[in-house]
Amino acid sequence: MRSYTLLACAKINLYLEIVGDRADGYHELAMIMQSVGLCDRLQIEPSGTDIIRITCNHPDVPSDSSNLAYRAAELMCSEFPEAFAQYGGVNISIDKHIPVAAGLAGGSSNAAAVLVGMDLLWNLGLTQGECERLGEQLGSDVPFCVRGGTALATGRGEKLSPLPDLDQLYVVLAKYESVKISTAWAYKTYRNIDEESYIRDPEHIEAYGQKVHSGPIVRAIASKNHAIITEELRNDFEKIVLPEYPQLVALKQRFIEAGALGTLMSGSGSTIFALTESQAEADRIKSDIEQQLNDPDLNLWVAQFSPTGIKVSD
Ligand code: C5P
Repeated sequence: MRSYTLLACAKINLYLEIVGDRADGYHELAMIMQSVGLCDRLQIEPSGTDIIRITCNHPDVPSDSSNLAYRAAELMCSEFPEAFAQYGGVNISIDKHIPVAAGLAGGSSNAAAVLVGMDLLWNLGLTQGECERLGEQLGSDVPFCVRGGTALATGRGEKLSPLPDLDQLYVVLAKYESVKISTAWAYKTYRNIDEESYIRDPEHIEAYGQKVHSGPIVRAIASKNHAIITEELRNDFEKIVLPEYPQLVALKQRFIEAGALGTLMSGSGSTIFALTESQAEADRIKSDIEQQLNDPDLNLWVAQFSPTGIKVSD
């Protein structure tokens, strides 16, 4: 049986608003998610046994069930027992390029690639929607990582409305290796400072999602008005993360001084991104910041906005 190689894209949030509380203990969100072309490469092949085996070239990536990619493979084995009986387990090798614990959905994107890859390996013929529904069981960002492109995400992040592609934009991504933020910590801390403003009534929450859908950033994406998109960038997690990490505030300031269109933290951090309208401009800003800060703890990447989340590579 053949093996499959998949490219799993990172995502950034152009907008992340924490709207309220949900009965399941999660937060109700309104987010604009964007795939970017900084990708992990996964190879998936039959293991020849019942075992699921994960190998990765990055020391911080676990090979057991604490890795979302492992849980994605386990989920496929339990959802499709006949295929598992016929084809057995899988070897998954992950070539990591997306920084870990960075707010770039690297783990979720790997899990999405495993769902798509095992669908192909086992000839299941699942639709994208079916892969997204499986992804919901694994994590809030996994459905978006399956779909990719540009989308408004509501609910706990799993309800997706596609938005027009923004493929003319580029990002410079910057991550301090030593600054690792736990998503669960970020939500808990946010709750402590802002819980009184949370919306709880389901009708009100639904109306709020509609309001964002017809709001300025979605309109600006539709008209590809980059100036308004950058004015409307928002991430509520900045309120709790930036005061703890002054170096991230300084990084945002450097990006603006270097001429970026706009800058924001992605997800619960700690990646800071800057938007540009050309690869040349992104490359220039990256090298300016590298020279100015000259900090071995700071890593930078340039990527283009991507219209897809998972790509099957030849
Ligand atoms: O869904 P996922 O496993 O990615 O979520 C990680 C953690 O982030 C959850 O345990 C929860 O604490 C928090 N979370 C939340 N509301 C969301 C998404 C995540 O509170 N909408």
